[in-house]
Amino acid sequence: MIRQAIIPLAGLGTRLLPLTSVYAKELLPINGKVGLEYIIDECIDAGIKEIVFIISKKKQIIRKYFYNDKFYRKIIKNKKDLRIISEYKKIKKYRKIIKFVYQNNPKGTGDAVLKTKKFIKDKFFLMLLPDDLIIKRNCSKEMISIHNKKKCSVMASMSVNKKTVNRWGIYSKKININRNSFYINDVVEKPDINSAPSSNAVIGRYILPKKIFNKLKNQKKGKGGEIHITDAIRKLIKEGHKIIGYTFKGKYLDCGSMEGYIKSSMEINKL
Ligand code: G1P
Repeated sequence: MIRQAIIPLAGLGTRLLPLTSVYAKELLPINGKVGLEYIIDECIDAGIKEIVFIISKKKQIIRKYFYNDKFYRKIIKNKKDLRIISEYKKIKKYRKIIKFVYQNNPKGTGDAVLKTKKFIKDKFFLMLLPDDLIIKRNCSKEMISIHNKKKCSVMASMSVNKKTVNRWGIYSKKININRNSFYINDVVEKPDINSAPSSNAVIGRYILPKKIFNKLKNQKKGKGGEIHITDAIRKLIKEGHKIIGYTFKGKYLDCGSMEGYIKSSMEINKL
C-alpha cells in the first residue's frame, strides 16, 4: 500500500519569472485554483494519507498559505461568507496531512528526496513533481494500482518529440508488459539527441522504494551540477531492482514553463 507522498517545492521557478520573483510558482493560480492544490487533490483521491512538502526558507510562503488562521478567522468573523468558510475548511483539511521539511540549497531533485528520509515509513512512497500537472485521469492512482499488482517501482512515461529529449529523463525499454506499461532497462537524465535511447520521457510521478535513500546518500552531482533522482534510480536498476514505466492516459500540462502555464489554465477551463 502506498500511503505517503513527497513533493519537492524548493525550486526557484526561474522559467516563470517575473511571476516567481516574489511568489512561489506552486501557489500561482491555474484557472482560479492554486496549482499545488491540484497535486494535493490528486494525492488524496489516490488514497495518500500523508504528504511531505520539501520547501526552503525562501519558500516559507507555502507554509503560510496553509497556516494563515488568524487572517481567516478575522475575515470570517466580520463577514460570514460561505465561500470563504468552505475554502478555509479545505485548507485546514489539507493541513492535517501535510508535513514540511527544508532544502535550503537547491542542489537537485535527488537531494530534495533525501531530505524526506526520516519521514518515510513504508517500503514504497509516491513522489510528484508539481510542475507536471496531469488532468482528466488520476495518474498517481493508476500507478498505485499497478504497484499493488506488481509490487515494484513505477514511473510515469510520455512519448515526446525527439528534438526535445535533452529536457527530460529518457527511458530505455527492456520489455513491454502491455500497451501502456513496460519494464525499464535504463534511464538517462537529459541526454543529447544523438545518444538518447528512445523518446519516452520521465514525467513527474514516481513510486520509489525506501532503499533509494541509500543510493542518494552517496549520489554524486550529475547533469548541470545537480543531484538527480534519475541517477539514483539508475543505480537501483543496475542492482536488479524492477521498475515499470507507465504510459499514462491523462493529459500532460507543463506548468513550469510560461507557455505551458498559460496553456494549462485554458485546458482546465475546457474541462
Ligand atoms: C525532472 C527530472 C526529469 C523529468 C522531468 C519531468 O527534470 O529530472 O528526469 O523528465 O522532471 O518534468 P526538471 O524538470 O526538474 O528539469
